[in-house]
Amino acid sequence: MLSLSAGHLETARRTLEPAVFDYYQAGSGEETTLREAAAAWQAYRLRPRVLRDVSSVDLTTELLGTTTESPFVVAPMAFHGLAHPDGECATVAGTGEAGCLSVVSTRASRTLEDIGAAATGPWWFQAYVMRDRGLTEALVQRAAAAGARAVVLTVDTPYVGRKHKVSGVRIAVPDDQFLVNLAQHLLPGAVGREAAEQDPSMTPEVIARLADVGGLPVLVKGVLRGDEAVRCLDAGAAGVVVSNHGGRQLDRAVPSALALPEVLEAVDGRAPVLVDGGVRSGTDALVALALGAAGVLVGRPILWALASEGADGVTAALQALAADLRHVMAVAGAAGTGDLDPSMVSKTLRPAD
Ligand code: FNR
Repeated sequence: MLSLSAGHLETARRTLEPAVFDYYQAGSGEETTLREAAAAWQAYRLRPRVLRDVSSVDLTTELLGTTTESPFVVAPMAFHGLAHPDGECATVAGTGEAGCLSVVSTRASRTLEDIGAAATGPWWFQAYVMRDRGLTEALVQRAAAAGARAVVLTVDTPYVGRKHKVSGVRIAVPDDQFLVNLAQHLLPGAVGREAAEQDPSMTPEVIARLADVGGLPVLVKGVLRGDEAVRCLDAGAAGVVVSNHGGRQLDRAVPSALALPEVLEAVDGRAPVLVDGGVRSGTDALVALALGAAGVLVGRPILWALASEGADGVTAALQALAADLRHVMAVAGAAGTGDLDPSMVSKTLRPAD
């Protein structure tokens, strides 16, 4: 299937340094999880309704008190500065222009303060818990002060996944962009670098601690099982993001599209459940929303758009996804996201069945 972002993808492939393109594109291990992500959405089938008034379709979405114009959220991704000189400042500006929400990575290439000033819409801060807990907490506090409305704690990365396909190729991140948000807190040299590594000993207590430190709700990203989602909520999480990190962490992890129903069933409406991984069209999002997702994060297509056309490209990519979703919802007989429910999805063609 031709993805909506095919034009941006081709431009990015042509214009980005090959090592940067490979870094963005890559998955871990044999890239099984990366390969299966989009196919798992495409394997669901729809059960449309008819004779509904779908003359206008409303995509308005509410996520933890933030209202957006569509359910598409920009996923947190490292080093946007490699795709565009304005980096995350361009991404948040373009996302706000589309009426959407962005999640800004700990590994952003611009400072949280610059990003907050450039934002034209709501944004959340993605936290990694680093060996130096004080460093993590300082970042969360800076993000809150700069305008972030929630913290997204990524928990699938006790160690960074091995991306064999790009190993040996070092991406050249300019000094002024490398972990720019950490630099001011770190000692120079090896000691500083080690303090900024993810802490593999992290346990659920960190959820309440970060919520306390930042005064913001904490969502947990990187959950693929119902019981783990409940464990996060019991520890104080305000929501979860079903994700396998775009196939960049545990290879052969289940596709998000297959994990989502289990997580939704276990969470049972206690908190919003978002999802990401391989979402490339309005129809993919329709399936996710009908199953019960509150929002849908999009990763790589945003980087291709940013590399191709900067902030305008990000706006265009999000608007194209929203237009596609609006269209398929109308044809499926849904005039708003509130009309979507699991009865609209048939699982009979899922690869696992
Ligand atoms: C990521 N992702 C990610 N996630 C996170 O929590 N913190 C991060 O810093 C990063 N960095 C990152 C860099 C790059 C280049 C990619 C492609 C991805 C994962 C990201 O948030 C998201 O889970 C996936 O990218 C979603 O899958 P798709 O839409 O890219 O298929």
